[in-house]
Amino acid sequence: MHTLLLIDDDPDVLATLRRSFRKGYTVLTAINGDEGIALLNGQAVDLIICDQRMPGITGNQVLQHALQRQPKAIRILLTGYADMDALMACVNEAHIYKYVTKPWEPHDLNMTVIRALESYDLQGKLDEAHRMLESAYKDAVTMLCVAAEGKDEDTGSHLQRVQHYTEALAIAMGIDKQDAEHMGLMSMLHDIGKLFVPDAVLKKKAALTTEEWGLMKQHPLAGARILGNNLFYEAAREIAVGHHEKFDGTGYPNGLKGNEIPLSARIVKVADVFDALTTVRPYKEAWTMMDAMVFIEADKGIQFDPDVVDQLKKLFDDGTLASIKLATN
Ligand SMILES: [Fe+2]
Repeated sequence: MHTLLLIDDDPDVLATLRRSFRKGYTVLTAINGDEGIALLNGQAVDLIICDQRMPGITGNQVLQHALQRQPKAIRILLTGYADMDALMACVNEAHIYKYVTKPWEPHDLNMTVIRALESYDLQGKLDEAHRMLESAYKDAVTMLCVAAEGKDEDTGSHLQRVQHYTEALAIAMGIDKQDAEHMGLMSMLHDIGKLFVPDAVLKKKAALTTEEWGLMKQHPLAGARILGNNLFYEAAREIAVGHHEKFDGTGYPNGLKGNEIPLSARIVKVADVFDALTTVRPYKEAWTMMDAMVFIEADKGIQFDPDVVDQLKKLFDDGTLASIKLATN
């Protein structure tokens, strides 16, 4: 059953409202803005009908509080014709669903509430479906990574660090938070093509022959094959294909140069190399972050995009890289 919160300083109006909605709803009432805010702080409500003109806290202020505290609750303002300025302020500041002018037609108000709650329920179902889809795609990425683990010396914690370095670098490069988060997640799939590289090559301790290098160098395009054509994984494909390209055009598989290489791949390249250098591997000690930074800065414009390296330096200087490493070890 939906919970309605009715707020009006006129006891007669409040009683009329309560009578209108006592069947089929859980009804809470408040005789002023303070009481309304206290109720909003104490329990979840689905819809609020609030008078604009009240002594003390106005309807606009109560509904702005509701917007902050319970943003999904539907907000309806009761107002008089004379209050157009207050109404416009409330539309802009409290993002109300609708306003109802006094005196109102009970049937109209009932229908407004019914329609509002239908859209509230629909939004709830959409949010739930979105959450399920989001967790399904995140799980799909993790499943692929688990499948690839054991095939390579890259561990889950390496992939997690690359994810977080990538996200931080993407934000530093001006990409919005949501896209940066997506890029971080997709970066975990950068080496997924190694599933197609024979173990004898992937795990060989000695130097690779020319032929073996040829096989190893196929992993970016093999990654793109695994990731398929779904638009959602476009960033992952760009990263898989492009993370061994070099800024000066001497990388593989396509020998792309500078901005021909997708930004996502330029970012992940820096994140991947930085983590590989600063992590212990069977054949090497972990470098200090400072040594890794010096190495990467020396290759600015050669292997690495200079702008991405500059952002990495800032994240190194302000301690972001160290806290990511600490959190994912
Ligand atoms: Fe790779």
